Amino acid sequence: MRNLIDFSDVSRAEWETLYRRCSEIIDHPADFLDTCRGRVSANLFYEPSTRTNFSFQAAMLRVGGSVFGFADPNSSSVSKGETLKDTITMVSGYADVVVMRNPKEGAAKAASLYSYVPVINAGDGGHMHPTQTAADLTTITRLRGGIDGLSIGLCGDLKYGRTVHSLIKALAKFDHIKFYLISPRELAVPEYIRRFMKENNQWNVEVTGLEAVIPQLDVLYMTRIQRERFTDPLEYERNKGIYILNRRKLDRARKDMLVMHPLPRVDEITQDVDDDPRAVYFEQARYGMFARMALLSDLANQERRRPDPVEIGTAPICSNPRCITQTERYLPPLVKENDGVTCCAYCDAALG
Ligand code: NCD
Repeated sequence: MRNLIDFSDVSRAEWETLYRRCSEIIDHPADFLDTCRGRVSANLFYEPSTRTNFSFQAAMLRVGGSVFGFADPNSSSVSKGETLKDTITMVSGYADVVVMRNPKEGAAKAASLYSYVPVINAGDGGHMHPTQTAADLTTITRLRGGIDGLSIGLCGDLKYGRTVHSLIKALAKFDHIKFYLISPRELAVPEYIRRFMKENNQWNVEVTGLEAVIPQLDVLYMTRIQRERFTDPLEYERNKGIYILNRRKLDRARKDMLVMHPLPRVDEITQDVDDDPRAVYFEQARYGMFARMALLSDLANQERRRPDPVEIGTAPICSNPRCITQTERYLPPLVKENDGVTCCAYCDAALG
């Protein structure tokens, strides 16, 4: 694996190797103190983050490396109008790995075209968040012993929730997963995820109520309504506070169900759930750090490589207003096929 942009970049065998490394780190952290000695990570956070940025920083420090970067793009030359291409070309001359979060969908893919070092997607708009998925898979595997055959409820904002999109993609590598997609209709999974599930024969049902399905679940993955992604504030107002998991609802769940959440939580899990042994979201955040340690141990130790030359684009072919190609207009017009539909290779939107 050269970059981690989308969980589709990772085969099941690669995931298993990464998970084995992660487990060794959890069990014997002292053996990994020098794995990234002398290596430097550039953490470019163009969008707010607490957990992901801190967890990447803590991960790099715990394997002996160092970190520089910004958590506010206004403190970098982006505010002077620098292109993503120039920022990445330059920064990848200073660092051994680039960790990037950006509000535009497909931004990490775009960065990978110009980088001399591996790029890790720490969240690209409402599109993907593969290292959160590494945290999620680690949590489930450690706490349940495996992932095949589980019934997983994904609840909340499935439209803009990038952690959900990444998790669905990753779970295509496992067998007999059942998805209960719990959301209001207007916040259902986007078309490209629906196509992905169809193409990969992933069993799923879409429901609007949480209580009726809770007894069926092995994992309940709660998410926040992604307020910052709504273009229509009324749509947010209509949907905020729509799912609230509390002690009473949890009474109907299996005794060994895991309650997960990528965090931050707003009001979708009440505080009284925190003490229930099934609530594992803070452990999940800690497993995320270990998963990132495993990932950095591999990617920050790769050879520098001059990127292959790419075509200079003239106009975006994708009409998704949140796609990176809308603002970085020199990007080459890359496409891919998903279930027979031609899609933008940056943001996955169907090209019409
Ligand atoms: C998530 C994100 O940024 O997408 N947070 C995280 O990385 N743990 C979830 C969220 O913001 O709701």
